[in-house]
Amino acid sequence: MTLVLGIETSCDETGASVYESSSGRVLSNAVFSQIDMHSVYGGVVPEIASRSQLEKINPIVQEALAKAGVKIDDIDLIAVTKGPGLAGSLFVGLCFAKGIAWARKKNIVGVNHLEGHIFSAFLKNDFTVEQDITFPHLCLSVSGGHTTMYLVNGFGDYQIVSQTIDDAAGEAFDKIAKVLGFAYPGGPIIEKLAYDLDFQDYFKYPRTKNISGDVFFSFSGLKTAVLYDLVKRGAYQLNIGPVQENMTDELKKQVASSLLVCIGDIFCKNVKLAFKKYPQVKSLTFVGGVACNKYLKSRLLDECKKSNKNFYPASPQFCTDNAAMIAFVGGYRSINGHSDDLSLDVDLR
Ligand code: KG4
Ligand code: ZN
Repeated sequence: MTLVLGIETSCDETGASVYESSSGRVLSNAVFSQIDMHSVYGGVVPEIASRSQLEKINPIVQEALAKAGVKIDDIDLIAVTKGPGLAGSLFVGLCFAKGIAWARKKNIVGVNHLEGHIFSAFLKNDFTVEQDITFPHLCLSVSGGHTTMYLVNGFGDYQIVSQTIDDAAGEAFDKIAKVLGFAYPGGPIIEKLAYDLDFQDYFKYPRTKNISGDVFFSFSGLKTAVLYDLVKRGAYQLNIGPVQENMTDELKKQVASSLLVCIGDIFCKNVKLAFKKYPQVKSLTFVGGVACNKYLKSRLLDECKKSNKNFYPASPQFCTDNAAMIAFVGGYRSINGHSDDLSLDVDLR
């Protein structure tokens, strides 16, 4: 039995998880989300994030151990997120993990946060590990910080196919939601508004052109197009903000619906191109906070069916930042002979 304690503090979630790598079972997954603390500011405030991490790290680790029914002495390995993320937040998890490793003479391994997301698709809702995802497969990883397509050749073996040249898709949801007058995070509210209009495309926002037919992501032009369309409709004034009498609830819904359909089209077009480029892949995984979106999941499922590929979206609890994915990656890294010592540092790359 190998018990891994995962610790994740890269941004605005404090996560701890116990994973039994020998049986492939997540025993616990404890998360504290700071969303309510940041929503009034329209985004994550780093200083608030790191202070909250400091406050929550011990209770969340204790919660994960208690839920798993194990004691710290039972743990064989500590897997901790080393980056990328907010330096101040990362330091909290890293110092905590190193403190335990030193005091209890535990092995420690640093995990790349993005690698955690890539392999989060393997963690099923019932806390077991998905056995059917074969290699190589494609992974579409989308959050507020990144939009990247990977070719995944094996555990810990992956390469970037394409990544956004500017904003992330989640950032587009967050920024447009803010323009419409909603708090952070914007993705869930955009989805809810679009659902009310049955995901109709009213405004036909511009789709990114795939230069030379290759996989390509860019979302800052879309954000600007939405903004200027609202200006044209008299619902928004640059440097002032929303014009209340014209920014009607109906218009907000139409914008949200058109935006979501547009991003769905962009994802589907790129997935189709990637399947063409890598005909050997049999599956697509969809991970990161934006992979909570039911509409986008149904669009990608349809696209996979058309190309005769399997589709594995991450479970919602493992889409947003969590320590189970970090423990999972730490587990196979350790089996593959990777380990770190107490000089382990934050790695922002
Ligand atoms: O992975 P995550 O929790 O944090 C990072 O950015 O690393 O992702 C948060 C992002 C935000 O941009 C949020 O708006 C988006 O995920 N998001 C969604 C949904 N739920 C969260 N986007 C679209 N639809 C959703 N249901
Ligand atoms: Zn993340």
